[in-house]
Amino acid sequence: MSVDSFKLAAARRALGFVEPKMRLGLGTGSTASLFVELLGEEVRKGLSVLCVPTSEDTRLKAAKFGIPLTTLDETPLLDLTIDGADELDGELRLIKGGGGALLREKIVATASDRMIVITDVSKRVDKLGAFPLPVEVVRFGVTATRNMIEMLAADAGCHGEIKLRIGRDGEPFVTDGGNYIFDCAFGRLDDPESLDEALKFIPGVVENGLFLGIADAAIIGGPEGVSVIEASYGENQEEAV
Ligand code: A5P
Repeated sequence: MSVDSFKLAAARRALGFVEPKMRLGLGTGSTASLFVELLGEEVRKGLSVLCVPTSEDTRLKAAKFGIPLTTLDETPLLDLTIDGADELDGELRLIKGGGGALLREKIVATASDRMIVITDVSKRVDKLGAFPLPVEVVRFGVTATRNMIEMLAADAGCHGEIKLRIGRDGEPFVTDGGNYIFDCAFGRLDDPESLDEALKFIPGVVENGLFLGIADAAIIGGPEGVSVIEASYGENQEEAV
């Protein structure tokens, strides 16, 4: 059994939450991509859904699989978003943005009645923060913004390396929104809410990868099968799939 098979099991389980005629948000990343592929199979069999992708990458994949697409402007209210995460804790607080799509992911998730996270068990942590927190910033005044992130994060008790994300071409990574990303290695976050508040205070920060109070459930694939965490009902172990 591999991490990929855990991701696939979670993605497959998430299909069970999709109903005909739903308006869906489609996440970004390798796990969300597996879900898009499975959803495409259902669409080919006749399932009718309308989807908003959270990135250009996902838009291309979904189009390739023949999934009907719209935009959030045309369809501003969604029934359900299914997306991956870089980390999640027992209260369904998330770190996202490893793939650089955190801004659209957060906009789409918060425009949805429900957000369900699909991950493999390696993403489940007791405390967030081992994964560096992505912070999306406008390009103008990027050094001043970096310094402010450092200062206000320190006030919120967070210290660590703040690194401009570099793309495969050796140039700064540019998001779908045309912005840069700082990856902030603050380590264990004892108070993610205070850090989130502090980052929101900085004019050059567009959004950060903390998803707090947004996810309604998580489907986690692992060697024991698939477990589901519901926001209000605690953790339930399910049978292997
Ligand atoms: C994309 O920006 C991220 O938020 C992804 O959802 C996250 O990085 C999880 O990706 P994987 O499913 O590839 O681990």
